[in-house]
Amino acid sequence: MSFMTTRQFPATRMRRMRRNDFSRRLMREHTLTAADLIWPVFVLEGEEQREAVPSMPGVERLSIDLLIDEAREAFDLGIPALALFPVVGQAQKSKLAEEAYSASGLVQRSVRALKEAIPELGIITDVALDPYTSHGQDGILDEHGYVQNDRTVETLLKQALSHAEAGADVVAPSDMMDGRIGEIRRVLEQEHLVNTRIMAYSAKYASRYYGPFRDAVGSAANLGRADKSTYQMDPGNGEEALHEVALDLAEGADMVMIKPGMPYLDVVRRVKDELKVPTFAYQVSGEYAMHMAAFENGWLEADSVILESLLCFKRAGADGILTYFAKRAARLLAQ
Ligand code: PBG
Repeated sequence: MSFMTTRQFPATRMRRMRRNDFSRRLMREHTLTAADLIWPVFVLEGEEQREAVPSMPGVERLSIDLLIDEAREAFDLGIPALALFPVVGQAQKSKLAEEAYSASGLVQRSVRALKEAIPELGIITDVALDPYTSHGQDGILDEHGYVQNDRTVETLLKQALSHAEAGADVVAPSDMMDGRIGEIRRVLEQEHLVNTRIMAYSAKYASRYYGPFRDAVGSAANLGRADKSTYQMDPGNGEEALHEVALDLAEGADMVMIKPGMPYLDVVRRVKDELKVPTFAYQVSGEYAMHMAAFENGWLEADSVILESLLCFKRAGADGILTYFAKRAARLLAQ
């Protein structure tokens, strides 16, 4: 008797299902679609203005008119929503960030223009003071340079309300002050803006992956060597993220976010498992820059790596992903 005929093979061969495309597709647990993507954009003053962001190759700051054209393309590709970030001139920045809640501010005008041009496209606005403060912090400082919580929340309320009044579908507080979700919800209810959604940046870490974003909005130089660790979370913490998310939900958040994305996918999974609410993650500027650096050097193959990176967010439990690759990914998915 030959050795081969007596050999017991395993009943379970994991490779059997991987043998063909049809069975691989049938057993696939997670897929990525354009409907999972939120596109973060940088908006500039002026007309026909287009500026490259050196640390984010392929990303441009756009004036409202050009942004509308790009937003229409994104909408046609099936992207549900766009997240707006303003590039505010030095002259508009101040210690108290008054420009943040001006009804005629850049964000407020952008929201109105976008909602008029493409009413069905969801518009998400960032509620935080860093683009507007002369020191680049997300809040109002006391005489020792400490970001004052309650004083900052008062200003955030005005900012969120001005966004909602301009027609923002979703306000997204990214400032990490305590109690701001509850206060924003209270004010929105009071003003009968009951359907304005709140996407809370609940677990936002004090991350060094935000560097290129701070270049893009022009807050890097103002912030200097200061950091945000007295209000953003410590990268060493996981449990604390659950605490933060639970608080924001209790205060009235409709959606929660974890940020950054790829180094924090364990947090996404834990939040989804524990809270079972609409959960988003942000593939931030530094993650984008790392990818682009590798693509430009020919070290990674762009298209497939982009789609893999985003699919992994879905597997981790994210319902959607904020990504600078949104349009490129949506184009690839349409092929
Ligand atoms: C500002 C804000 C930041 C980002 C989004 N909103 C930067 C920060 O907290 O310093 C980062 C996004 C990115 O890096 O892509 N509150």
